[in-house]
Amino acid sequence: MLANALSASIVGVDGVPVRVEVDVSFGLPGLTIVGLAGSAVLEARERVRAALRNSGFEVPARRITVNLAPADLPKEGTGHDLAMAAAILVASGQLDADLGRVTLIGELALDGTLRPIPGAMALVAAARSTGIVEAIVPMENGPESAAVGGVDVRPAACFSQVVRHLAGLAVLERLAPGATSTGAPARDDTPDLASVIGQNVGRRALEIAIAGRHNLAFVGPPGVGKTLLARAGAGLLPPLEEDEAAEVSRIHSVAGVSDPRAPISPWPPFRAPHHTISMQALVGGGPRVRPGEASLAHRGVLFLDETLQFRTDALDALRGPIDAGTVLIARVDGILALPARFMLLAAFNPCPCGWFGVERRDCRCEDGARRRYQARLSGPMRDRLDLVIPLEPSVRWFARGDAEATAIVAARIAAATDAQRSRQGRSNAELAPGDLSSEHGFGAPLHDLLELRGRQMGLSLRRLHRAARVARTIADLAGSSHVAREHLDEALQHRPKELAA
Ligand SMILES: Nc1ncnc2c1ncn2[C@@H]1O[C@H](COP(=O)(O)OP(=O)(O)O)[C@@H](O)[C@H]1O
Ligand SMILES: [Mg+2]
Repeated sequence: MLANALSASIVGVDGVPVRVEVDVSFGLPGLTIVGLAGSAVLEARERVRAALRNSGFEVPARRITVNLAPADLPKEGTGHDLAMAAAILVASGQLDADLGRVTLIGELALDGTLRPIPGAMALVAAARSTGIVEAIVPMENGPESAAVGGVDVRPAACFSQVVRHLAGLAVLERLAPGATSTGAPARDDTPDLASVIGQNVGRRALEIAIAGRHNLAFVGPPGVGKTLLARAGAGLLPPLEEDEAAEVSRIHSVAGVSDPRAPISPWPPFRAPHHTISMQALVGGGPRVRPGEASLAHRGVLFLDETLQFRTDALDALRGPIDAGTVLIARVDGILALPARFMLLAAFNPCPCGWFGVERRDCRCEDGARRRYQARLSGPMRDRLDLVIPLEPSVRWFARGDAEATAIVAARIAAATDAQRSRQGRSNAELAPGDLSSEHGFGAPLHDLLELRGRQMGLSLRRLHRAARVARTIADLAGSSHVAREHLDEALQHRPKELAA
């Protein structure tokens, strides 16, 4: 007998509907899975067999063939177990149920317990796109699945519960969307700007960078507050729009890093991977394509503390995403694009000893060692920084008291973000060279000034474009619809200069 069940698979960060076809026929007893199944899918044979037996059902002593369609789509992961087990019951006459209207998602433990899987949000969204009205998912995946909306989500603890529901004997309860979402978790490890002493230029640059999503680097000796200031940036990010928040949450769900208590968080991600991270973990990819930190930072900040300690191949792999907002991964079956539009936040010492260029201090590094150290950030990567800010030890460590708090700066950033959204629907960092026109507040006088400054300072066109975008943000922070000379001149002060060797 033949039976079909519905499930879904992850491709990149998106869900794709999958039909699980099961045929039970006379022949040599055995369970065969076909349809471009990865190793985790093939291992479903053992899990499904044990789960069926331990849930009180029979594994038919027949020839069982499971086909996953579409057959040309590579399938990974363990999420098809539940659909396979249910279809086997129907095909072998142990269950009389219509499996055509429900998507079944989940991994089976040997005892029949349903185990959570990554990417439930994207999987349920894929089911919804094909008109499916009901999704049965593991308990732990309930809240994020329900957050998708438009599908009745019914979490289950084990296989026999699912069977009783499908047979119409005991209904699995429907989880109301947002029922368990407790709102946004506080960013409790984020320092408040009020605790940062001095570093006024650094604070200003951080405000500009976050407001327009420009790439920023802090350079300076150890212990001046580079890490502290950068981390305070997390508290300055304005909340995401609803569709952006859903997109970010889907990516985090696929990577298995979402917060189960708040599956859809309105806060932009602030990712701070350690410098020992591999290139694959940073940009994504691998035999099982997983979103890397670049994608996890989508619509937020990627903070690379001690930037020059990162592998140079990993750093260079960020060039593509910085330019295009996507990570491209080559696979046997084509090129996969993962979203990765982030703001880069870098912090590093200017040389191995850390004291190069600091007044009244001696740098002990040899010229060659210093040059090699600085070269770890390649020219093309340096070129993609918008603001590079030298930080020095404060002259008055103990004269605190009047530093602006995060809430005040965040309010200015939120207003500047609103201005960008209503003018152009995206951040200033995403303005194309052709957008630097009167429509966006760049008049003819400013174009003349750009020409002049370019000649005076010997800047490339790319540098000038970057400075113009930063100037647009400075104008937005000042509440100005036009970009004026003072805005451009401030932007040019913060531009990356050659770190003299
Ligand atoms: N400007 C500053 N304001 C307040 N605290 C600071 C400042 N600079 C350094 N500190 C303190 O010194 C410690 C080291 O700062 P950190 O940000 O890690 O320095 P860096 O990253 O530049 O090496 C932190 O615990 C922080 O509390
Ligand atoms: Mg540090």
